[in-house]
Amino acid sequence: MRTVGYALVDRLVAHHITLSDQPVARRGTRHDFASLVDEDLPDAPRHLEECLEFFFQRVVPDLTLVNHPRFHGYIPCPSSFAGALGAMLAAGTNPFSGSWLGGSTICALELTVLRWIKQMLNYPLTSGGIFTSGGSLANLIGLAAARTRGGDTALTRGVIYISPEGHASLRKSAAVLGFPRHAIRSVPTNRDFQMDVDALQRAITRDRRDGRLPLAVAATAGTTNSGAIDPLTTLADICTREDIWFHVDAAYGGFAALSPRGKRLLQGLERADSLTLDPHKWLYCPMGIGCALIRDAKLLENTFSADGEYLADLPRDEINFLDRGPELSRPARVIAVWMVLRSVGRAGLAKQIDHDMQLAQLAADLLRANPQLQVNDPVLSIVTFGHRPKPHETEEDRAKRDMKLMEATLASGELMLSTTTLASRSVLRLVVMNHRTTAEEVQRSVSQIHQLTR
Ligand SMILES: Cc1ncc(COP(=O)(O)O)c(C=O)c1O
Repeated sequence: MRTVGYALVDRLVAHHITLSDQPVARRGTRHDFASLVDEDLPDAPRHLEECLEFFFQRVVPDLTLVNHPRFHGYIPCPSSFAGALGAMLAAGTNPFSGSWLGGSTICALELTVLRWIKQMLNYPLTSGGIFTSGGSLANLIGLAAARTRGGDTALTRGVIYISPEGHASLRKSAAVLGFPRHAIRSVPTNRDFQMDVDALQRAITRDRRDGRLPLAVAATAGTTNSGAIDPLTTLADICTREDIWFHVDAAYGGFAALSPRGKRLLQGLERADSLTLDPHKWLYCPMGIGCALIRDAKLLENTFSADGEYLADLPRDEINFLDRGPELSRPARVIAVWMVLRSVGRAGLAKQIDHDMQLAQLAADLLRANPQLQVNDPVLSIVTFGHRPKPHETEEDRAKRDMKLMEATLASGELMLSTTTLASRSVLRLVVMNHRTTAEEVQRSVSQIHQLTR
């Protein structure tokens, strides 16, 4: 165990410290990659060392490295060495965190770390929380609590207000929870891709007049497309006045509130009835760790509490996380979050998050030196940009040039961008969210973009 365990740590450290020199991603077909990793069902045992060797030889070299300092696509999941150690601790000790009886100290630790998160975001300490597999499941938990609050007619009369910039997992969650398609009201956005509050107010009034039940506003604090933050304080005021559940999906942007600049931008977040966060994004934790916070802890437990003869000996006056979400057996996700928060500290995380935002600004400034490109100011840490249209060029042809640039950056192995559509125009996205990303790495990414647009 020691020999192979040390070998694993050595390989992981080598992987971490050489990330910048590795290609960010490689494109390949199912056939290309299957030929690398596919084998017949093993019958005889193999040495653990040989399994390690296989993994590092065959799987790792072609991974898309979402923790690479020049991975700027989608919303990065950078993780960290501290987070990886936490995940190893969780897998190595394998605590059961579904019930108090199953793992009391681990449940106590989850409650402590949830309290730390509430303190960092100025969210009520009396709220109920749980670590989930990601933001998608946290959105599901938030909307499930809203459904409970809506009572018997929530599914038949309820309406959930989401802007087109809201994440797909909100709509998916509503479908899983049994809301029919017509329960989703798409509220348009303003020029800054934020939910249009006047349009929301009109929709609510219309729905009430039509005998519907305005159930929940699902706002976003940091949209995936552009980083836009819905006007949280105004939305909270509308929800209070109208007695509507206020859900905020802050999977991307939430932890930006640790930095003074982010805190100003995210004012109103603390008024959410349910809040989605993603420690596996801007809290540098390994993939598979989201977080749901619900202001009314009792309501959360009314939504998910489970019973069964086999659960009769659980201490019901303690917190059993099986009562706060859809899972019973669940990994001790808290350990990685605890490891990062304890080893880095709030102040260190705040500084790092602020640094990521500054580097996004640097990327925008450097991109602006390229006369071929039109660059938007970053929101949080997302820079959107694209080719300037040539005289008489159709939008379709211009968009093709953006796409070609995206493909060329990917093929270069130097960096990864992604694309999206904003106001019917395709744009490229460059996101900075990684403690390994330095000003030099940003310069390297942007020089490559300049070179490829020559
Ligand atoms: C705004 C937003 N909400 C929800 C999600 C879904 O989170 P997860 O992928 O952790 O399930 C994402 C993912 O990027 C996101 O950006």
